[in-house]
Amino acid sequence: MGMMERIQEIRERMIRQLDSAENRQALEDIRVSLLGKKGDLTALLRSMGQLSPEERPAAGQLINEAREHMTELLEKRAAEIRAVEMAVALKRERLDVTEPAPLPRVGSEHPIHLVMNDLVECFTGMGFEVLEGPEVELDHYNFELMNIPKNHPARDAQDTFYVDDNIVLRTHTSPMQARAMLTRRPPIRVICPGRVYRADEVDATHSPVFHQMEGLVIDRDVNMADLRGTLNAFARKIYGEGIETRFRPSFFPFTEPSTEVDLTCAACHGSGCRICKNTGWIEVLGAGMVNPRVLEMCGIDSSVYSGFAFGIGMERIAMLRYGISDMRLLYEGDARFLGQFR
Ligand code: DAH
Repeated sequence: MGMMERIQEIRERMIRQLDSAENRQALEDIRVSLLGKKGDLTALLRSMGQLSPEERPAAGQLINEAREHMTELLEKRAAEIRAVEMAVALKRERLDVTEPAPLPRVGSEHPIHLVMNDLVECFTGMGFEVLEGPEVELDHYNFELMNIPKNHPARDAQDTFYVDDNIVLRTHTSPMQARAMLTRRPPIRVICPGRVYRADEVDATHSPVFHQMEGLVIDRDVNMADLRGTLNAFARKIYGEGIETRFRPSFFPFTEPSTEVDLTCAACHGSGCRICKNTGWIEVLGAGMVNPRVLEMCGIDSSVYSGFAFGIGMERIAMLRYGISDMRLLYEGDARFLGQFR
C-alpha cells in the first residue's frame, strides 16, 4: 500500500470513530490512538526513514496536511459534543423563578396562649406586673398561707396531686398571692398566669392540667368598687363593649367577702341561649377582698392596707371566645384543630 492509501485509511478510520464518539473521553482516546506519540499517523511519520530521500518531502507534507485536517475534524466533533452537553445541562438545571415555592409549614399559637396574651396585655395596660412562679409548690403557699387549714375539703387527696407531705402540684395560682406579698411592698399590682393541677378525670369540661390567671392588688383604701371597675375593664377588653359583670356572693377561704363573677353571655348578649343555659350570664371567675388573715400571714398590716384578688379560668375564657365545646380539643394537639387559630 502506498503512503497516500495508508494516510487515507487512517483518516477514514478517524471519521468512522468520530461518528460514534459521544463524549470527550472518547475523543481523547481517538486522538491518542491516531495522533498521539504512539498513534498510527505518528508511526507513519516515523516510517518515512524507509523512503528514498527524493520521496520524503512530499510524503512529509502529505502527513502534515493529514494531521492538520484530522485535528480540525477532532475539534469540530468536540464542539458538537460540547453543544449537546450544554443543552442537556441547561435542560437539567432549568429553574423557573416564577413557579410558586412550596410554603414552609408554619405553626399557630394555641388558643390558651392567645387568650393568655390578651389578658396579659389588658392587665399590664392597667399597670399590673406579670409574676410567674412554681408549678411544684409548697403546701405552705398553696394552702396554709391561703387560709386553707388542714382538714379543709379543698385539700382532699382526690383533688390534689401530692409530691410528698409538704409539696403539691399547685391546685390554683392563688399561692402566687403569698409569693407576691412576701417579696414586695405595697402598692402591689400583679397578675400571675400559669398551669395548675387537679386530680380530675378528663371529660368535656375537666382536665387534670389547666390554666388560671391570678390577680392581686394591695394598697391603701382598695375596695370592692376598685375590683368591679378592674373586672369591667377586663370584660370589655376581652369580649367587647356592652359586656356587664354580675357579682354573686360566694365563699373562698382567702377572700372576705368573696364573690363569683359572671359576664354577660357574649354569644347572645344577655338574651339567653344554649351556651348560657338561657340565663344570659356566664360564670368566669372567682374574686373578693383579700382576707385580712391572709394579709397578716404574708406580713402586710391589715389595719393600713387592703386588697382584692381574682382568679380567672383560662380554658373557660378560650372555650367561650372561640365556641369550643369540648375541653379535650385544647390538649390533644390535633393540627387540624390548632391550625384554625392561625
Ligand atoms: N383559687 C380559686 C380557684 O382555684 C379561684 C379564686 C377565687 C382566686 C377567688 C382568687 C379569688 O384570687 O379571690 O378556684
